[in-house]
Amino acid sequence: MVQNWTPNSWRNKPIQQVPDYPDLDALAATEGRLAKFPPLVFAGEARRLTKALGQVAEGKGFLLQGGDCAESFAEHGADTIRDFFRAFLQMAVVLTFGAQQPVVKVGRIAGQFAKPRSSNIEKQGDIELASYRGDIINGIEFTPEARVPNPERQIMAYRQSAATLNLLRAFAQGGYANLDNVHQWMLGFVKDSPQAERYRKLADRISETMDFMKAIGITSETNASLRETDFFTSHEALLLGYEEALTRVDSTSGDWYATSGHMIWIGDRTRQPDHAHIEYCRGIKNPLGLKCGPSLSADGLIELIDILNPANEAGRLTLICRFGHDKVAEHLPRLIRAVEKEGRKVVWSCDPMHGNTITLNNYKTRPFERVLSEVESFFQIHRAEGTHPGGIHIEMTGNDVTECTGGARAVSAEDLSDRYHTHCDPRLNADQALELAFLLAERMKGGRDEKRMVVNG
Ligand code: PEP
Ligand code: CO
Repeated sequence: MVQNWTPNSWRNKPIQQVPDYPDLDALAATEGRLAKFPPLVFAGEARRLTKALGQVAEGKGFLLQGGDCAESFAEHGADTIRDFFRAFLQMAVVLTFGAQQPVVKVGRIAGQFAKPRSSNIEKQGDIELASYRGDIINGIEFTPEARVPNPERQIMAYRQSAATLNLLRAFAQGGYANLDNVHQWMLGFVKDSPQAERYRKLADRISETMDFMKAIGITSETNASLRETDFFTSHEALLLGYEEALTRVDSTSGDWYATSGHMIWIGDRTRQPDHAHIEYCRGIKNPLGLKCGPSLSADGLIELIDILNPANEAGRLTLICRFGHDKVAEHLPRLIRAVEKEGRKVVWSCDPMHGNTITLNNYKTRPFERVLSEVESFFQIHRAEGTHPGGIHIEMTGNDVTECTGGARAVSAEDLSDRYHTHCDPRLNADQALELAFLLAERMKGGRDEKRMVVNG
């Protein structure tokens, strides 16, 4: 049992990134209502994810984590969810083929609503308003009314998460993820993209293998692992009142779980060891992510691991590294060495998005070549240190947006205004996400060949 912890013990700690709710009674009333709502996920599912991530920590799997920077109320709909899931499955199939290892699938979805901001104020011309903090807190419209935090939005976010999760469960378990459909997952616009041919070839090989297995009596009707997939949800546990209301005791184990999603993570701005976000997360049993940016020292990291994973359980903690393409070589090796020296079991994941944001033509964007470059360096550094590059964490959408520049279709700075829809940070479109998956698959295949040479050599 975790010492001196309760679901609300975070309230006695200093806290960053708190919205300024004008009516605290209304906020408390909303949290009281949420506390009576059904959990969104079950403890047993979170345990299964910890176990799968434990395999990744041991070098026997790969984590694919991705989705919107911020989900929005306006874009909530079946098509958006389906297109995301389809792009995500395509990536997963490409990675499974490359890694020849299980790919653990975790969406940034069904709860990814609250955003940390670097400034409390947004200025447009002469007007200053409170910053947008995600649809669960306030509205994105640049008006004084929209920017007032409204607790009712927490209820809306909860309901949207439930509906999103319901459809995702149906897709994952109800036949959509069936490997027989591998060709159908090709999105309309990816169909005539440079990635389409590569994907079609891979899909052909999978179909051929499926035909062979069918011939010897193994079909998707008889074998659930061909027909279904495990898909998990995750979000940043930023809005702690909401998280507390959905924190429940698991009757089987007596442990506390965040039931707002399977995995939750701690952002780079809220990871102070003696502050509220770390306090909340240390007491729940879900698998945790910790964002690691350039300001995190090796000692600071070990201190956080001591707090978050004192039992050194593999799968409990994923370190999501987000340094930037030009800083990863400076920061990643020192963290890897500290973790190795202390014998800590972690999943190393690469977030190549948050350290690579620039502004072009007044749009926040990320050059695709910098995203690729950070991923490449992440793989090279792990190979050199003899550790397992265990996963990636990306902001992506299934929609054909123009938010990140570059990629095989060469989105230019001028193109950004065409289809720039994100509510927060720029996302990879389905095409760019698939291109990244192919690059990763090549790197993983390279790593396997290298290992084989060492074994045989
Ligand atoms: C995010 O993942 O959207 C985010 C805000 O990341 P970070 O905490 O790493 O800046
Ligand atoms: Co983001």
